[in-house]
Order: sequence, then C-alpha cells, then structure tokens
Amino acid sequence: MKSILVTGGTGFIGSHTVLELLKKNYRIVVIDNLRNSKRESLKRVEKLTGAKIEFHQIDLLDKPDLFDLFNQNNFDGVIHFAGLKAVGESVEKPLLYYSNNISGTVNLCEVMLHHNVKNLVFSSSATVYGNPDQSPLTENSALSAVNPYGQTKLTIEYILKDLYRADQNWNIALLRYFNPVGAHKSGEIGEDPTGIPNNLMPYITQVAVGKLAKLQVFGNDYETHDGTGIRDYIHVVDLATGHLRALEKLKENPGIVIYNLGTGKGSSVLDVIHAFEIANGIKIPYKLAPRRPGDAAVCYADVKKAASELGWVAEYNLKDMCRDAWNWQTKNPSGFN
Ligand code: NAD
Ligand code: UD1
Repeated sequence: MKSILVTGGTGFIGSHTVLELLKKNYRIVVIDNLRNSKRESLKRVEKLTGAKIEFHQIDLLDKPDLFDLFNQNNFDGVIHFAGLKAVGESVEKPLLYYSNNISGTVNLCEVMLHHNVKNLVFSSSATVYGNPDQSPLTENSALSAVNPYGQTKLTIEYILKDLYRADQNWNIALLRYFNPVGAHKSGEIGEDPTGIPNNLMPYITQVAVGKLAKLQVFGNDYETHDGTGIRDYIHVVDLATGHLRALEKLKENPGIVIYNLGTGKGSSVLDVIHAFEIANGIKIPYKLAPRRPGDAAVCYADVKKAASELGWVAEYNLKDMCRDAWNWQTKNPSGFN
C-alpha cells in the first residue's frame, strides 16, 4: 500500500501524519477545503522533508471533484481526517455537522467503492464513549453520543461497520483518539485554532504567550485526586505514527478493526498546568471556575489492544507534550498567519 489519499491533511493531526508518511516514502495526495486550516502547514512539511506534496483544495461535499481526483490517481488507501470538530458549534449548527461530517464521509466511501479502493483509516474519537462513568475505556466499552459532533463520529462508525458487513473486501481501521496535543519538535507545525481555543492545551499556551489573561479551570469538585477533570493527553506525533501502524495492519486484510489511541494515563487539569510550568519554566495564571456543562470527570484509554495488535505504544509523556506545544506557540505566536 504505497499511494495514499489524505483527506483533511492540512489540519492539525493530518499535517503531522503527512510528515510521518513522507518519512516512510509513501506517495501521498492531500485534499482539504481549508475551512479550518491553512495551506502553509504543508509548505512547512515540505520544508522539513524536502518533498513536494500534491495538494488539491477539494470539499468532500463536492462529489464530481472527488470522482475526478480518483480517476486521475491509483490510490491504495485513504486516511480520512476531514471533518468539523468543534463541540459547541455542533450544538448550535447540527445540520452543518451532520451534512459536512456524515455526508462528506458517505460521498468519499461511494467514490472509493466506485474505484475499488477499499482500505480506509478513519479519525474517530473518544467522544463515542459519551460521558463515561468508568475508565480505562476499552474498545468494547458502551457507546453513546452526548452532542451532535459526537453523534457524527458514532454514526460514521455505524455506517462503516455496515459497509463492511455488506462487502467484506473492505479493510477499515476506526481510530478513537483521546486528547491530541503537542506539536512536531521542530516547532514548524502545530495546532492553530481559530478564535479563542476551547481545548485546554492551546488555551494554556495562549495564556503563556500573553494572548489570554488567565486560564479558567472548569470544576474542582470532581471525584479525582485533586478535584479537576482527568483526560488522556496524547502527543500528536505519537498519534501520527499510530496511523502508519494502522495502514500496515490493513495490509493483513483484517476487515474492520477498532483501536483506542491514547497513552493509557490520565492527567488532571492541574497536573497539566504543573507539567507545563515545569517543562517551560513559566507560571500559568489560573482561577477555579464552575464545571463546563457536558464534561466528564474522568476519561482515559485502555491501550492494550493497539499495543498487542498494532505494536504501537505512545512514546511521549506529558512534559514532552507541554514542551513541544510551547515551542510551536513561541515560534508561531499567530499560528500559520
Ligand atoms: P483540523 O480541523 O485541524 O483538521 C480537519 C481538516 O478537515 C481541516 O483542515 C478542515 O479544513 C478539513 N475539512 C473539514 N471539512 C471538510 C470537507 N467537507 N472537505 C474537505 N476538508 C474538510 O482537526 P484535527 O484536530 O486535525 O482533527 C482531524 C480529525 O480527527 C477530525 O475528523 C476530528 O474530528 C478528529 N479528532 C480530533 C480530535 C482533536 O482533539 N483534535 C480528537 C478526536 C478526533
Ligand atoms: C473536548 C471535546 C471532545 C473531543 C476532545 C478531544 C468538549 C465538551 N469536548 O473534550 O468532544 O473529543 O476535546 O479534542 O469540548 N478545561 C479547563 N479549562 C479550559 C479548557 C478545558 O479546565 O479552558 C478542562 C476541561 O474541563 C477538561 C480538560 O480541561 O477537564 C480537557 O478539556 P478539552 O481540552 O476541552 O478536552 P475534552 O473536554 O476532553
């Protein structure tokens, strides 16, 4: 499997995965509608690798464009990152999310089917475990959706399972990411959220750089070691290598397979703040605030399945994630602008 289409490849996780794919000499083509990312991310990857990346600005909702692309290429497989991911926006604009994420994926699969390309790696999320009351979460833990974004991930998982049930020539890896953070160690690529970040790590780095005054810690009355919420933060470069392992797995014709991609280790909000302060020697001003509606107390992965079946384990720790996130932020205070 040498020729890979990467959808959403200019985005945060996509650009890091493109870099790892190029290092392993895959031939790749990237498409993205650039709604939530910049073309510059791939220019940086080109600079890091010395490779030229074929890019097309294509929206997954534009099926004729997808058809043309598949007519002009002989893809062996697809890594499908493209999608919208802001939980709050999905609550305000559910139809946008259902249309973009679900219809976009159905379009992609239809075009793949037509061209007999039946190897797919899909970006799912720990959000498919809903608001779990127990961690670690295994791939067999109960599934539910607690917002429209989560519903799109869960629905796409069901669609892909049905697709496989109907035609066992498909090989599909559903990768359930926990909390991706950090950046490539060069500081050339990283997370570039538009507006005020919703997620913890980009918020912390923007406080550290002075763009935002103070972090709010959402809730200190959870049943955790320090009262703040616990998550499984994973370095984006580890996540990227997880995709390479998933592609290799698909070569064995495994059918449909599901893997948690996390570290298996939970860290509280205060743990992250302290790790950031130690890694970078910067104080993060914060204040305690009420819980954020919809937040789970604790969510971390059981990662044994990915370890035994993919031979993949996360290598970076929380300190590395904080160091690399900060390195990216200081080198690019305005992101890719
Ligand atoms: P991102 O927004 O940086 O990347 C997604 C890319 O998809 C963007 O470049 C966007 O422009 C593109 N896109 C969106 N809709 C498109 C469409 N219709 N046609 C073409 N391109 C389109 O996000 P990311 O953090 O890199 O996430 C990648 C994938 O992983 C997403 O599917 C996301 O839901 C999933 N995921 C992300 C996280 C996270 O915390 N970052 C966690 C779990 C799952
Ligand atoms: C969020 C998304 C989830 C997505 C996940 C991975 C929500 C409600 N959920 O989850 O769907 O799969 O990202 O990208 O947005 N926190 C603060 N202050 C802040 C920001 C966050 O205290 O300013 C806390 C949160 O309460 C939580 C932890 O930090 O305990 C992590 O938050 P965040 O980075 O937003 O990730 P998730 O809540 O896990």
